[in-house]
Amino acid sequence: MENGMKKQQGFGTNGEEPETPTNITIKGILSLLMASIDGEDKKRVISLGMGDPTAYSCFHTTAIAVDAVVDTLRSDKFNGYAPTVGLPQTRKALAEYLSQDLPYKLSPDDVYVTAGCTQAIEVTLSILARPGANILIPRPAFPIYGLCAAFRHIEVRHYDLLPEKGWEVDFKAVEALADYNTVAMVIINPGNPCGNVYSYQHLKEIAETAKRLNIPVIADEVYGHLAFGGKPFVQMGVFGSIVPVFTLGSLSKRWLVPGWRLGWFATNDPNGIFKNPKMVERIKKYCDICGGPATFIQAAVPRIIEQSEEVFFMRTINILKQSSEICCNKIKEIPCLTCPQKPQGSMAVMVKLNLSLLKDISDDIDFCFKLAKEESVIILPGLAVGLKNWVRITFAVEPSSLEEAMARVKSFYQRHSI
Ligand SMILES: *Cc1c(COP(=O)(O)O)cnc(C)c1O
Ligand SMILES: *[C@@H]1O[C@H](CO)[C@@H](O)[C@H](O)[C@H]1NC(C)=O
Repeated sequence: MENGMKKQQGFGTNGEEPETPTNITIKGILSLLMASIDGEDKKRVISLGMGDPTAYSCFHTTAIAVDAVVDTLRSDKFNGYAPTVGLPQTRKALAEYLSQDLPYKLSPDDVYVTAGCTQAIEVTLSILARPGANILIPRPAFPIYGLCAAFRHIEVRHYDLLPEKGWEVDFKAVEALADYNTVAMVIINPGNPCGNVYSYQHLKEIAETAKRLNIPVIADEVYGHLAFGGKPFVQMGVFGSIVPVFTLGSLSKRWLVPGWRLGWFATNDPNGIFKNPKMVERIKKYCDICGGPATFIQAAVPRIIEQSEEVFFMRTINILKQSSEICCNKIKEIPCLTCPQKPQGSMAVMVKLNLSLLKDISDDIDFCFKLAKEESVIILPGLAVGLKNWVRITFAVEPSSLEEAMARVKSFYQRHSI
């Protein structure tokens, strides 16, 4: 009986305040790094920490998306509330978009419109939460999963991704961690923070493992289609008939508009395992609490999806490919950094620190703080994504700024090397 649930319920009745989960957030640690930069220094600050490419003018959304939003706003028809599950035309457009490469079709009722992928994570974890529940999350992972699970009193169990195998899932760990109370396993593909893109075969194996364990898969595909390493992006939903899949996504990354807060989650469940009326009711009620993104942004989605051109997507992919190559080539020139797997997608890569080559750096946090202070370059300590003595580098940066930042990391290394 003396579990976390019991204790938390005490707020207001026994004077105890509820605890705020103590997870490190990316935004939290980056603002500390930013604050540590020497104001005296003349160097321009370059951040390879945050996944917001819009800071650089080369990452610009398409005029088609901007026009669509301007027109829906000017039409004066979308100033009211939308249904909390999303506008019907938005759900329909997203259902078609997400069905393009599936062996079955999603219906508009399978899609829920959310305020970015972040709220899709929040909705999914909240509807799965129940007393005693646990969830399997990759390590390293995007920290919002752990934070959200902590608020919902869902126990987090980390399974490792294997750097030497292209950051694939360690199935042995998954099988060992899952039990009767496991409510789902999370995968992120293309991966943040690792830059992995999983093959058809690996995703199929994930589906088969989840089926054996009788748990649904939560597939974070916020970087969907942002693959540039040769391996194509395959949706987890392709395996929806093996195991139910919750697909999460948003316009944020592929359309380069994270501030528009337009995301979704879709139930890829052609066998209807999750589609019982109770579950649907639960999702709808939770959407009532959340409210979705602004109505005029939702109303622009059908046109954004229909009219965005391949050249726009290819442009982004080509810049990411070029900047990921700059990043990897520069890393090769810095002996204390190694990149076990060249990124094949997304906007970030995990890089291992070899501390024995540095004379006065104690760990990844120390490395990042000294780097920020001395070189005005911000990179994320691996601890923020669950891997000590690694760092995450975001390469969604103007190529010239990336070159300059990596040159500064190199001179930092030279100054601190043994
Ligand atoms: C950026 C990101 C999100 C959040 O997406 P938003 O649409 O900005 O809320 C979720 N998951 C991963 C892995 C991300 O990198
Ligand atoms: C770190 O560098 C040293 C010296 O080059 C090398 O012997 C060692 O294997 C490296 N360690 C790791 C973990 O790569």
